[in-house]
Amino acid sequence: MAQKLQVALLFGGNSSEHDVSKRSAHNIYDALDKDKYDISLFMFTKDGILLNNEASQRIFDGEPEDKVVADAYAKMDLNRPLAPIMALNELEHIDFFYPVIHGNLGEDGTIQGLFKLLNKPYVGSNIAASAMSFDKDLTKKILNEAGIRNTPYVLLTPENRADYSWDTIEEQLGDLVFIKPAKQGSSVGIHKVTNADEYEAALDDAFKYDFKVLAEQGVANPQEVEISILGNEHPIASKLGAIRVPKDDPFYDYENKFVDASGVVFELPVKLPQYLTDEITDMALQAYKALDMKGLCRIDFLVDENNVPYLSEPNTLPGFTNISLYPQMWEVSGISYSDLVDRLIQLGLEEFKRNSQITYEFKELGTEHVGQKKFN
Ligand SMILES: Nc1ncnc2c1ncn2[C@@H]1O[C@H](COP(=O)(O)OP(=O)(O)O)[C@@H](O)[C@H]1O
Ligand SMILES: [Mg+2]
Repeated sequence: MAQKLQVALLFGGNSSEHDVSKRSAHNIYDALDKDKYDISLFMFTKDGILLNNEASQRIFDGEPEDKVVADAYAKMDLNRPLAPIMALNELEHIDFFYPVIHGNLGEDGTIQGLFKLLNKPYVGSNIAASAMSFDKDLTKKILNEAGIRNTPYVLLTPENRADYSWDTIEEQLGDLVFIKPAKQGSSVGIHKVTNADEYEAALDDAFKYDFKVLAEQGVANPQEVEISILGNEHPIASKLGAIRVPKDDPFYDYENKFVDASGVVFELPVKLPQYLTDEITDMALQAYKALDMKGLCRIDFLVDENNVPYLSEPNTLPGFTNISLYPQMWEVSGISYSDLVDRLIQLGLEEFKRNSQITYEFKELGTEHVGQKKFN
């Protein structure tokens, strides 16, 4: 029998989606074919330190995280330069990395940089695509360049904030505006604002999370529609899903994502007019290519009251629990959860192979004939 692929499953992390990641990783672990893959677990603690397979397994098995982390730290020399990733070195081989880390570190290009440095294949997009897709300002710049509809916005920084009073913003964007840190996720630091007081308070908060903050034109009473994309150069799209937030809630905020989701309804698949379904699917596939994504992405849309869709945001490592939208949209489109994780590994291997055809040339410096420098 062929040797099993040694897969390192990385999860946890220092974002607000730490616990979602643990659950996603657990579900992925269960679904992976143990005849094909030998899986080791590595959990990033909330401080961004990678725990070894043994400690990560204990957390998987339900032991209290705080205790396992304290035990593990006691055995580690956290002052060593490579302490955050030292646990990886306990294995003799790692053939493949499967990151299941949402938000910071996982989706922003950081962990992809590590995989590149270690020269190993992995699930999902590369450094640049991840970084662009995680930064709402850069995403919009790419979408605008590619002609993909998204809401107009103003980029605010601590340096230009004073130039943008509520009146200026309202004149430019209208009186329903969303304030968002450029690089966050999970609706953290996001505020819906309709007047000067709310605007200033929202900026104070958003600037705690980033030095780049977007003031974005609001879509009134939007339908929130999502789609799953899978593939490398020839990606495919799932059927659409919709998220319905309770009517009296302000929007799909942190509260109804993670605190009390009981009022939130997922409609899978959602029945929309054919032309709208086609338009959203086209926009998503175009964005996937424009942002140079690989492997997978869940792309979210806001549809206004006239059925005009705006691309809201890409999620390059979306939630992957049994009840998460990304795998469920595939489930209703005919790809089972276990087939999906298997395909993602194959796509990662293919992408790595493709990249290995790229040549890096080293040209030695010849004898230099330097012209005379004249300093005046
Ligand atoms: N321009 C907008 N118009 C209307 N609602 C919005 C807008 N931007 C964001 N929202 C609401 O805020 C939620 C979170 O915003 P989003 O950009 O998806 O941030 P995150 O990356 O935190 O998920 C959306 O799901 C939606 O409910
Ligand atoms: Mg979102």
